[in-house]
Amino acid sequence: MSERTLVLVKPDGVERGLVGEVISRIERKGLKLAALELRSADRATAEQHYAEHEGKGFYEGLLDFITGGPLVALVIEGPRAIAAFRQLAGGTDPVEKATPGTIRGDFGLEVQFNLVHGSDSVESAEREIKIWFPTL
Ligand code: CMP
Repeated sequence: MSERTLVLVKPDGVERGLVGEVISRIERKGLKLAALELRSADRATAEQHYAEHEGKGFYEGLLDFITGGPLVALVIEGPRAIAAFRQLAGGTDPVEKATPGTIRGDFGLEVQFNLVHGSDSVESAEREIKIWFPTL
């Protein structure tokens, strides 16, 4: 069954010129692009997107980071797209959790600056797609 998921190439990924690399890995995996936009996240969008982390120690820094420069938002689709992209991304911590061969494992060093975001469940994907692409 086909699924859709929300992916962000975060400002560190855009700044480092890794947008093409991320999209290439998504396409080579066999997933399809359903929407793609280079944009800046305003504070309200970032707060909505990261609502579940409100109150955590890293929350304010995370909002500053995600609103601090252009990012690329994508909707991708395919069979088990949510798990498939999380496999491509690797674990949240690029050193402790992500393994070589994954986006974070190959290119990341710090947990905040972990290059990409991917929805973690069907419910999150629906919620996040509405935030970034309300007309989709
Ligand atoms: P993401 O998958 O987008 O989901 C939440 C984000 O918060 C995560 O990637 C990281 O960018 C960030 N994050 C998670 N844990 C920490 C942490 N301990 N310190 C700083 N940032 C974090």
